[in-house]
Amino acid sequence: MAVLITGATGYIGSHTVVELLNRGYETVLVDNLSNSDISVLDKIEEITGKRPVFYELDVAIRENVERIFSENHIDAVIHFAGLKAVGESCKLPSLYYYNNIASATAVSDVAARHGCFKIIFSSSATVYGEPETVPITEDFPLHTSNPYGTTKLLIENIYRDAYAYDNRWNITLLRYFNPIGSHESGLLGDDPNGIPNNLMPYITRVAAGQLEKLSVFGNDYPTRDGTGVRDYIHVVDLAIGHVAALERMTETGVHTFNLGTGKGCSVLEIIEAFERVNGVKIPYVITERRSGDVPEYYADSSKAERELGWKAERDIDDMCRSAWNFIVRTKK
Ligand code: NAD
Ligand code: UFG
Repeated sequence: MAVLITGATGYIGSHTVVELLNRGYETVLVDNLSNSDISVLDKIEEITGKRPVFYELDVAIRENVERIFSENHIDAVIHFAGLKAVGESCKLPSLYYYNNIASATAVSDVAARHGCFKIIFSSSATVYGEPETVPITEDFPLHTSNPYGTTKLLIENIYRDAYAYDNRWNITLLRYFNPIGSHESGLLGDDPNGIPNNLMPYITRVAAGQLEKLSVFGNDYPTRDGTGVRDYIHVVDLAIGHVAALERMTETGVHTFNLGTGKGCSVLEIIEAFERVNGVKIPYVITERRSGDVPEYYADSSKAERELGWKAERDIDDMCRSAWNFIVRTKK
């Protein structure tokens, strides 16, 4: 089976490419390198011994997608390409709507014209907004509170419509919880440009001495230690979840799955685990809550376990160890 991976040199895309290549899938990769580096291709080759076809193109431009489909036979698309920073999406909403919606619709429109009706889409737990209870199941109400999240929900709706009006479609919406950690080789990882917004890349920069201390955003939430609770999932488990989804794309329809571990972990618990497994200190201060943050959420991923035969296997210690290994191997 030949799979087109958009956003292929990004954090989750690159890990998924490795899992696909290791299982013998044919892959075609595309990324405009707006948030990743071309050197990721060398790392993929070093890990897998394979150098996949790569296009440096913007998939929000329909002609570019057309070119890829006319030059390759594609059976399925995994669509990762997108802008993902919540804060930036509030400053540049039009850019987020354009890039994310145009790329998702260009991919689905061109794919269908070439007879390809299988798409796996990177959705997010952000589509659940602030849930009334946890754990979150796929049938929880959907609402969003920032332009980034709204792009995810809009694309889900666009893809639901695609199937509603053409039942040849086979679409899988994967709602990721909080991916962290790195490939065991230490060659691939989360390497954002500038000062990180997310917890784990911030922690690794503090551990590396590039940032002075971590700000823990609030310790007065109604959680077990007052800090925010999230469902952190190892990026390799998440990547394997995509392979599981691809292998189960036997029936047309729109199939939605939470990909998480089902376990919530607080900010202070992450700091403790990181310090313990890596033997480094993470200086931190408690600051104000970050606007828009939800106190606590974690997934009920039993549907993915039941229907995809997939379950996250790596624990918080693995996530913290591998996140630091990536920095030690590539940065220090
Ligand atoms: P990432 O930024 O590392 O990867 C996304 C890749 O897409 C980047 O390499 C970027 O250069 C590329 N890209 C963006 N717009 C493009 C375009 N128009 N054409 C071609 N390439 C383009 O992000 P990631 O963490 O790997 O996330 C992958 C997907 O998963 C995104 O859609 C993101 O919204 C979604 N997601 C991520 C998280 C998370 O916490 N990392 C959580 C939920 C959902
Ligand atoms: N946090 C800190 N200090 C920091 C960064 C984060 O205390 O410097 C805390 C946050 O307050 C939160 C937790 O760490 O309690 C996790 O925050 P992240 O920014 O790492 O992740 P979020 O849960 O806010 O959001 C992430 C992505 C979203 C995605 C969501 C669900 O940024 O795009 O996971 O997948 F939608």
